[in-house]
Amino acid sequence: MLPSLVIVLILTTFTCGENPAIQVMLTNKGLQYGKHLGAGWIQDKLGNITFPDISGGIHISIFGTIHYTFTGVTIVQCDLPEPSVQFYTDVTGFKTSVSGLSIALTGKWRTDYGFIHDGGSFNLAIFNVDVTSAVELGKDADGRLSVTSASCTAEVGDVRIDFHGGASWIFQPFVDHFKGRIRGQIEDKICPAVEQYIGEFEHQLQAMNVSFPVNQAVAVDIPLTNLPLVAASSLSLGLKGEFYSIKSHADPPFKAQNFTLPEQPGYMLSLGLSEFTANSASYAYFSAGLLQALIDDSMIPPSSPVHLNTTSMGPFIPQLPKLFPDLLMKLQVYAREAPVFSFQPGAVKLGFLATVKAFAVQPNATLTPLFKLNADSAFSGKVLVDSGRLKGSVAMDNFTLTLASSEVGTFQTAALENLVKTGIKMGVLSKLNEKLAEGFVLPRMHYAQLVNAVLKVEEGFVAVWSDAEVWPTESGFN
Ligand SMILES: *[C@@H]1O[C@H](CO)[C@@H](O)[C@H](O)[C@H]1NC(C)=O
Ligand SMILES: *[C@@H]1O[C@H](CO)[C@@H](O)[C@H](O)[C@H]1NC(C)=O
Ligand SMILES: *[C@@H]1O[C@H](CO)[C@@H](O)[C@H](O)[C@H]1NC(C)=O
Ligand SMILES: *[C@@H]1O[C@H](CO)[C@@H](O)[C@H](O)[C@H]1NC(C)=O
Ligand SMILES: *[C@@H]1O[C@H](CO)[C@@H](O)[C@H](O)[C@H]1NC(C)=O
Ligand SMILES: *[C@@H]1O[C@H](CO)[C@@H](O)[C@H](O)[C@H]1NC(C)=O
Repeated sequence: MLPSLVIVLILTTFTCGENPAIQVMLTNKGLQYGKHLGAGWIQDKLGNITFPDISGGIHISIFGTIHYTFTGVTIVQCDLPEPSVQFYTDVTGFKTSVSGLSIALTGKWRTDYGFIHDGGSFNLAIFNVDVTSAVELGKDADGRLSVTSASCTAEVGDVRIDFHGGASWIFQPFVDHFKGRIRGQIEDKICPAVEQYIGEFEHQLQAMNVSFPVNQAVAVDIPLTNLPLVAASSLSLGLKGEFYSIKSHADPPFKAQNFTLPEQPGYMLSLGLSEFTANSASYAYFSAGLLQALIDDSMIPPSSPVHLNTTSMGPFIPQLPKLFPDLLMKLQVYAREAPVFSFQPGAVKLGFLATVKAFAVQPNATLTPLFKLNADSAFSGKVLVDSGRLKGSVAMDNFTLTLASSEVGTFQTAALENLVKTGIKMGVLSKLNEKLAEGFVLPRMHYAQLVNAVLKVEEGFVAVWSDAEVWPTESGFN
């Protein structure tokens, strides 16, 4: 009984999976924009298609079998009507169709009939091509997005062929006979070509990484956590969104909470970033030992009335200048625990528990430990996107300084607490707020940029709604 219960428990914990910490939603507006880009790209691509030689044989009762070959077939003109693309819930993907496509081609023909060889040129017009393709989205074992062709149908309305040169006047009357065959051959080639493009795209997706280094110590993992979700008006992807320390690769001791990203059909994209992502980054930096700093007097502005030396500390720690007269000091500051972010409607809160170890710098450069303080602070910030820049402001909500241990005897921390509080507000926060008010340009890739972005902090997550501007590259969209 117990073992089977344990198995059931293990199975359910595994099958429940994890909540995505990053959610990306493509709306119908985004899909239509993508389609518009795609149509332009296909129109471009069609102009560059090279066709393989087409050959076959036709049996004409009075002549017997004539072998024919078409070579050097190129597109002269192509009118690609605006395709239609929609989210397709039947296969969890997209359905694309083009109807009324017409193409004019030109090429050379050659026929072999017994030992009679003949040749010339031809013009071929293909009218009213209808193609409908459904693409299914999925997720591979490593959490990459995958695309597969779910169905494809192609129909060619009509073809017109005009032969020139050679004995074309003889067989032009048999064009109707050729026509049916060629129409069928073209029809048969469309879907395999479509499937080949989907296959190439899948190949590119499989080459993509689901983990990216942020710096030498920290990386971020963004595989899909669930299958893509397709609704009538949107496609949603859930990504893991976990930062980790490259050295330890340990998962943080907390899990991503479920959140519901509100859909905003007026924007192409919605992006939701859970508190978890910020906290995993904090945990990764903490685990990698990056949340620490050494502060010495050279970092204190010369204009400051208080300096990092034992004399200057006299008013706060009266015994210090007596025990260690006129020595410079150094502070080692480090996070005691990983700082914790909490996203609340309209605000980002941050709790930061730090320890400060103070040392006196002896004339021979030896560091003599003096005391250890716990410096616990709470900050709250606002973030917004304004004119394409990420802006914000940070305020200190609370700051407490308590003596954790001392080599120089006990002392009151209240006055020192006020000093440090003022130092952080005047020194650190005012500079940071100047930068935040100026803002940071939103991250842009070499082929895409967010435009009209709006950011809102919600309970447990940050939501960004945005349009995008994409410049396709020669090789496609990646
Ligand atoms: C098509 O060919 C032209 C000229 O050779 C080139 O500039 C263009 O990038 C090509 N387009 C595609 C989609 O390969
Ligand atoms: C994937 O990651 C590997 C190793 O980090 C790197 O060499 C490769 O260039 C990456 N591939 C892409 C497409 O970014
Ligand atoms: C997360 O929330 C969505 C909708 O609110 C729900 O459909 C889904 O089952 C939830 N997932 C988990 C793992 O709780
Ligand atoms: C200590 O700081 C005070 C200013 O607070 C300064 O006048 C003094 O020269 C400094 N002493 C040393 C040793 O740097
Ligand atoms: C440096 O100076 C201090 C105080 O004068 C002394 O206690 C310590 O032994 C010295 N260290 C070295 C390595 O000379
Ligand atoms: C400030 O922090 C201390 C200790 O961490 C706590 O007791 C106090 O309630 C906090 N004050 C505010 C205003 O949050």
